[in-house]
Amino acid sequence: MGIPFDLLGRAFARWGHRTYPDWAWPLLARALEGLPPGARVLDLGGGTGVLARAALDTRADLKLVIADPARGMLRHAPEQAEVVVARAEALPFADAEMDAVLVGEALHHFQDPPAALGEIARVLEPGGLLWIYEFDPQQGVGRWVYWGERLLGEPARFFPPAALLRALRSLGFEGDYRERRGCYVITARLRSETPQAAARPA
Ligand SMILES: C[S@@+](CC[C@H](N)C(=O)[O-])C[C@H]1O[C@@H](n2cnc3c(N)ncnc32)[C@H](O)[C@@H]1O
Repeated sequence: MGIPFDLLGRAFARWGHRTYPDWAWPLLARALEGLPPGARVLDLGGGTGVLARAALDTRADLKLVIADPARGMLRHAPEQAEVVVARAEALPFADAEMDAVLVGEALHHFQDPPAALGEIARVLEPGGLLWIYEFDPQQGVGRWVYWGERLLGEPARFFPPAALLRALRSLGFEGDYRERRGCYVITARLRSETPQAAARPA
């Protein structure tokens, strides 16, 4: 049971962009502005690369990597991006390899979001950017998405934004969120001095 993402690549490539509200795109563009030239950006649970495309439209110099377990989604990724078949809970990247991680409409599909958040913190450079677009299971459209995905047999591991931000702070992130009608964006940075960074060899 669950959504057969492997079979849905064509639909996501065509319509995926429209599932985001207009107000999310300027928040993404603003978050990407501060990245260094040629920054390495991971679109995690990136599917057909909806966020990767938007990032490249804003900053053509960025080096996008799209990681997702569904080959049928990755097949439709933009050709400028590197694609990697992987699960968020066990990322095949070195510590601090990424300058930014983007996660759009994907965190609630992961089997183990806490493990995925730990992996995100591990692969991010200290000071790195984390941008998440998600649904609030307690508000507006988020409530419908939550129940719809439960009926479809998805993990449906949704977090209200304040709870997700608390989890991120415990991993060394600082940031804030913007919410409208049950959809929210978190923009956060991994603090330079974190338990992960301290544990890394110099
Ligand atoms: C609703 S789609 C969103 C795709 C893309 N981010 C977008 O905005 O169109 C959710 C994606 O999460 C992926 N996914 C599911 N479980 C995953 C996991 N454990 N690790 C990484 N990605 C996963 C699915 O294969 C799917 O491509």
